[in-house]
Amino acid sequence: MIISFEGIDGSGKSTQAKHLMSRLSGEAHEVLYVREPGGTQISESIRELLLNPEVKMHPFTEMLLFSAARAELVREKIRPFHERGGIVICDRFFDSTVAYQGGGRKVADADWLDAFQREVVDGLIPERTYLVRVSVEEATERLAHRFKSQKAADRLEMAGAAFFHRVSKEYDRLAERDPERFRIIDGSASEAEVAEEIWEDVSQILSS
Ligand code: ADP
Ligand code: TYD
Repeated sequence: MIISFEGIDGSGKSTQAKHLMSRLSGEAHEVLYVREPGGTQISESIRELLLNPEVKMHPFTEMLLFSAARAELVREKIRPFHERGGIVICDRFFDSTVAYQGGGRKVADADWLDAFQREVVDGLIPERTYLVRVSVEEATERLAHRFKSQKAADRLEMAGAAFFHRVSKEYDRLAERDPERFRIIDGSASEAEVAEEIWEDVSQILSS
């Protein structure tokens, strides 16, 4: 089974992806956690380029680099693990490119981008995608807090509020278009409440 987590930066999706990983591992499931971009030697090198605030790049190049990192991760790690029957938790997957590069940067027609991404992932579509939803204002506040205590903003995080509003809108459109796969989760609830809501849904999938 493949489960992906999506949402704007600061929505809390990495926190939730990790919660789910620990809970599943605690119940003796074989779990692989991957976060994009990254996860293989090539993909980590691409990540450095993509997130470096000093690197200038054309939005179309950006889209191709995210896709190249993903193509490698899918073929090197995700597919083999999935074929052995493990549960793969993706902290971002191809919907991120449709939302950020499609909705946010407007690099290409959304349908074309979606079709292209299906080739990038070699047809490997998650059974479930959690869209962790918070307002752009709340996410920005959470990140500001994080930057003070830990790390500086990366290249994407510096894109500005208007960009994140477009990304968020595109995520909503994707979730509306594919209600079978997507579950919209209210990310403004407490960490524990969000985790519980996700766990209930995952348990249901596992028992069906
Ligand atoms: P993302 O992966 O979506 O960028 P993170 O999981 O890294 O987000 O969380 C961003 C920040 O918000 C972190 O500082 C985290 O501790 C905090 N956070 C995560 N979930 C919640 C929540 N439900 N309520 C309040 N703060 C949260
Ligand atoms: P990261 O620090 O991993 O952010 P987060 O914790 O929010 O996932 O950085 C990944 C950044 O790259 C994030 O701003 C979202 C962006 N991104 C895209 O623009 N397109 C993509 O296809 C992916 C996977 C990520």
